[in-house]
Amino acid sequence: MSDQYEDLQQSYGRCLRDKEFINRFYDVFLESHPSIAPMFAHTDFSKQRMALRRGISAAIFHAAGSALTRRTVEQMADVHGRNGRCPVDPGLYPYWIESLLTVVEQTDPEMDDRLRARWRQAMGVVCNTFIQRYEGVGAGRAV
Ligand code: HEM
Repeated sequence: MSDQYEDLQQSYGRCLRDKEFINRFYDVFLESHPSIAPMFAHTDFSKQRMALRRGISAAIFHAAGSALTRRTVEQMADVHGRNGRCPVDPGLYPYWIESLLTVVEQTDPEMDDRLRARWRQAMGVVCNTFIQRYEGVGAGRAV
């Protein structure tokens, strides 16, 4: 049977039980690189928190190869594409992944080396999808 990333869904569920999880992610992420905080200067964080909460869930399904989240992931990729509403330089994705790992580490009492590697791998999949679509549909480059 294919890998459904049940372990990550459960780890994420434990994180979300803490209502400050997504807030703390943004605290860590905005401090992680000087280019990042200015990108969120006009953001309504009450909406953004919910968008990211759903986005991470879609990212886990995407890593599991689910077709159901394909459009959601493509839409997120296009928001962050070169010509999107919030273009994200591909070089910034490692900061997003490391910030998420830091906050999962602080929040999930069951985090261990194996789960850490699983999170890093799964979020790498979604970030690579974003990077491949960065130049526009069909213009992907290998990473
Ligand atoms: C370095 C990495 C990233 C940066 C700098 C970044 C930055 C941003 C910014 C500035 C916005 C717009 C906020 C606003 O409306 O004012 C945004 C929206 C969003 N981001 Fe990211 N992002 C990154 C990675 C990701 C990843 C990996 C995901 C998903 C797993 C994601 C999911 C979303 C979603 C769902 C939205 C809302 C889109 C919408 O309003 O239609 N982002 N991001």
